[in-house]
Amino acid sequence: MSATVTAHARFIVAEIDPRLYGSFIEHLGRAVYTGIYEPGHPTARPDGMRGDVIDLVRELDVPVVRYPGGNYVSAFNWEDSVGPKELRPTRLDLAWHTTENNEVGLHEFADWCDAVGADMMYAVNLGSRGLDAARNVLEYANHPGGSTYSDLRIKNGRKEPFNIKLWCLGNEMDGPWQIGHKTADEYGRVAHETAKALRAFDKSLELVVCGSSNAKMPTYPEWEATVLDHTYDEVDYISLHMYFNNKAGDTPRYLAESLKLDDYITSVAGVIDYTKAKKRSERNVYISFDEWNVWYHSNEQDRTILEGNDGWPSAPPLLEDIYNFEDVLQVGLILNTFIRRSNVVKIACLAQLVNVIAPIMTVPGGPAWRQTIFYPFLFASRHGRGKALDLAVDSPSYQVEGIGAVPGLDVAAVHAEADGVVSFFIVNRTAEPISTSIALEGFGKTARIIDHQVMTSADLKAVNSATTPGAIEPKPGSDVTVAGTTLTATFAAYSYQMIRVRV
Ligand code: AHR
Repeated sequence: MSATVTAHARFIVAEIDPRLYGSFIEHLGRAVYTGIYEPGHPTARPDGMRGDVIDLVRELDVPVVRYPGGNYVSAFNWEDSVGPKELRPTRLDLAWHTTENNEVGLHEFADWCDAVGADMMYAVNLGSRGLDAARNVLEYANHPGGSTYSDLRIKNGRKEPFNIKLWCLGNEMDGPWQIGHKTADEYGRVAHETAKALRAFDKSLELVVCGSSNAKMPTYPEWEATVLDHTYDEVDYISLHMYFNNKAGDTPRYLAESLKLDDYITSVAGVIDYTKAKKRSERNVYISFDEWNVWYHSNEQDRTILEGNDGWPSAPPLLEDIYNFEDVLQVGLILNTFIRRSNVVKIACLAQLVNVIAPIMTVPGGPAWRQTIFYPFLFASRHGRGKALDLAVDSPSYQVEGIGAVPGLDVAAVHAEADGVVSFFIVNRTAEPISTSIALEGFGKTARIIDHQVMTSADLKAVNSATTPGAIEPKPGSDVTVAGTTLTATFAAYSYQMIRVRV
């Protein structure tokens, strides 16, 4: 099989917002406790945060982390998470049927964000609470001082405001599983009024309103149309979520699912445009894809806890998917889709970051290790910043019922102009090698490979573990040839590759 790719310096999709490589930490399972926070761990800092995890998160160069939920936020009292630790209440978390002692809260998480070099994206509770709690936590977090809540923050040890710029107006409010679930009209009204109040405090905040939890929701896409009708002129982003699974054990279909992701983005972008025209609005609203990942490996083992048959455990292992090699390809395909749609998707959050459907796993008292999916995220996050290129790709394809023609070769490219580097992210989603020529046009007269990383595995189901953390790892590639500004390579069956070219 063979394919051709053409990249032209002037065919540009958009300047990528670095927050396309965001992530998410929820008070869920072991994400916080024995994940990012484990006092007494050999690498723990004085504040109890694990140094080994901080190092791995820094390696991923995550610019923004969504917090504190997720489903968790919809019955969360922000006041529980501040003040002297010994006075913080222990609560039952209705979303995950666990007990939360609030040992880690807003201040501790903000310090952790500073340590990993990320901004916080903070979600307010529009489920069991509403506008009043939202405006109060904003005053607590961002006002310099001289008011009840800002002075409380100062009393709690933090003089300078946290200056959180990005705020989520609730989480998945279309989902019947959500505490305080609402209809689109109910939610749209609350979100509008909350956004108005937050903006009255600070016009420069960036606000994210909830879109659909997934494209299979019966209310999708009417939900987006109704919610945006209420909120268009007050919000900056509409959030979308999507999780992928191969429960059917059908690899070609699994690896075609990113085309559905692309359709989902197209449809919601259409609803945004429709609403903008309807409102004669001058402003643009973009997509914040603030939860995405593969999620299914742990479903069975989580059943007992989630059905409430295990009491109310504290920080039990939950959603601890162990990712295989096939998931490397899926994560690469998802990231490629976001790069290609970066004109409309400005923020995306890999859900989640540590232990809970995560690229980073920890052993309590023991090591932290990289899951297979760590690597495609690492490469895109570190090298997928700059201008997303609008590539012409001619690839052989295969048919999937209900999806259509699926290109065997999936490619995204980013031009980091200041560095003079074009990075290609390539997935061969087929069982055959694909010989490919990549033409670089308009970049100059020479091209030199500065990095080529390859991920392949004879066993699509191979995984990493605490004892075999390097079973699936990228290896340097050496088989790309360059003639002038054309690259030629044969991309192995079921492979993920990154090629960086100095132009
Ligand atoms: O990321 C896990 C959960 O998935 C989140 O809490 C929720 O928003 C979504 O359903």
